[in-house]
Amino acid sequence: MHSVKRSGLMLATATKQFTRSVAVSSSVVTNGESNLKSLMEIPGPSSLPVIGQLHHFMPGGSLYKTDGVNSTVMYERYGPIVRVAGFFGAPSVVLLYDAEAASQVLRGENLMPTRPGFISLGYFRNNYRKQNGLPPDAPTGLLTEHGEIWKKFRSTVNPILLHLKTSELYTNSLTRVAEDMIERMRTIRNEKNMLEGNFDVEMNLWALESIAVVALGDRLNCLDPNLPEESPAKKLLQMIHDIFKISEKLDFKPSLWRYVSTPNYRKAMKLYDDQMNLSKHFIAEAVKTFASKKTSTHEKGILEKLLDIDEYVAVTVANDLIFAGVDSTANTMTAILYFLAKNPDKQKKLREEILTDKEKRPYLRACIKESMRLMPVVSINVRVTTKEYNILGYKLPKDTYVASMHKALCKMEKHFPEPEKYIPERWLTEKDDPLFHRNAHPFAFTPFGFGTRMCIGRRIAELEMEIFLAKVVENFEMEWFGPPMEARMRSINYTIGPYNFIFKDVNK
Ligand code: HEM
Repeated sequence: MHSVKRSGLMLATATKQFTRSVAVSSSVVTNGESNLKSLMEIPGPSSLPVIGQLHHFMPGGSLYKTDGVNSTVMYERYGPIVRVAGFFGAPSVVLLYDAEAASQVLRGENLMPTRPGFISLGYFRNNYRKQNGLPPDAPTGLLTEHGEIWKKFRSTVNPILLHLKTSELYTNSLTRVAEDMIERMRTIRNEKNMLEGNFDVEMNLWALESIAVVALGDRLNCLDPNLPEESPAKKLLQMIHDIFKISEKLDFKPSLWRYVSTPNYRKAMKLYDDQMNLSKHFIAEAVKTFASKKTSTHEKGILEKLLDIDEYVAVTVANDLIFAGVDSTANTMTAILYFLAKNPDKQKKLREEILTDKEKRPYLRACIKESMRLMPVVSINVRVTTKEYNILGYKLPKDTYVASMHKALCKMEKHFPEPEKYIPERWLTEKDDPLFHRNAHPFAFTPFGFGTRMCIGRRIAELEMEIFLAKVVENFEMEWFGPPMEARMRSINYTIGPYNFIFKDVNK
């Protein structure tokens, strides 16, 4: 998912009916109805041999500069179900712009969901398993595994990663990371109150430092401006940056690596291997620290509990958390800061809440949610079906790639009135308010995915973001100038610079 460098309508009236676009009723599994249309009859952009519909998304194409499949343009043109033909041998994907239809598939696949992706990483980990004499049922990781092996692995690590005490365990260390980041921001701020360097890199540093506390058991100190080039932390930073660049090429672009060993393939395999070794190094260091700190009342953290299972599980999960937990959180945080910088009234309201020092911060949470609705880092939730479905009058066979179009659903007026406006209040209002978020279909807003395969790092991500956001708003008044910030979809949605933030000291 992720790098260390590395898309107003009128307010709905109180009388508005929130109709849902299920044009034809859907049912989970077909029972051989002959009146169902076939996969190939699903509407979508016209297709050319070999390149499929790619030309529509290229300069001059009808969908160029429309935020592609993420935009509601696709829904407006083709309706709630769209077929996008795969190009260069990739499978076709059925896009669902209908929350109810999406829920049929996500629910129907909830037993052992298959979420495609992370192909080159999965390939590396399979080889690693073989070369290291591990049994064929040794899990390659949460991101790369499917079926029974994934299910067993996920149920082993769920209680450790989703433990209710996560917040209690990590609040202090994540607060220190946030304070160090604020310090760093002050240090690299220029006379115009802008941060020198790339803002996305800065957010990645903060996200990596935060996730390291959980996954690697200690600080990496990558926020230290004097971190030596040769230090393992600096190497990890560079490595993650390189991994995201190269896995993007291998996993998301046409490439021959699936047939022959290409230079990029060899480079990627070496990077994955180096990263595995580096994680082992950090975990070995953490083991020494745990031994020296152990007391009878000592509460074990996530890494320690994973190590109690075995070192392979600890390293595998640590790598998954680093892969999935850096870019996702960094880009989400950038979007949150952007929306608050653009909406000074909301920022002021948030600051007032933070300065009251109350434990509960509902407005802070609402600000985060609203950013995740407007600029979600994951815009599509994909499943490969394990059975036939009757969706909106079409028969989707087994093994179809089906995508719930989360970002587009979040931007639909019928779910979220005034969808383009940043209104954190919608998450806090009561049901007599037309903005009331529960008027939206429950599958219209699923930033962390759904069900058994849902983001395992959700609690950690929310904790990191809440702590850091509170610190930023307490310390800085944020402003934004120039054109709006945009995000571009690659494996996930990456925000794009220039990052025209101004961070002025708050007059306390
Ligand atoms: C704002 C930040 C984040 C967002 C929006 C996010 C979102 C997601 C989404 C949409 C999925 C796919 C769920 C599905 O298929 O239903 C996912 C999976 C995953 N996420 Fe996150 N994530 C975030 C942060 C994190 C963090 C910080 C970690 C690590 C601590 C993490 C670890 C994972 C892992 C390991 C998976 C795969 C779970 C599995 O397949 O069993 N994520 N995330």
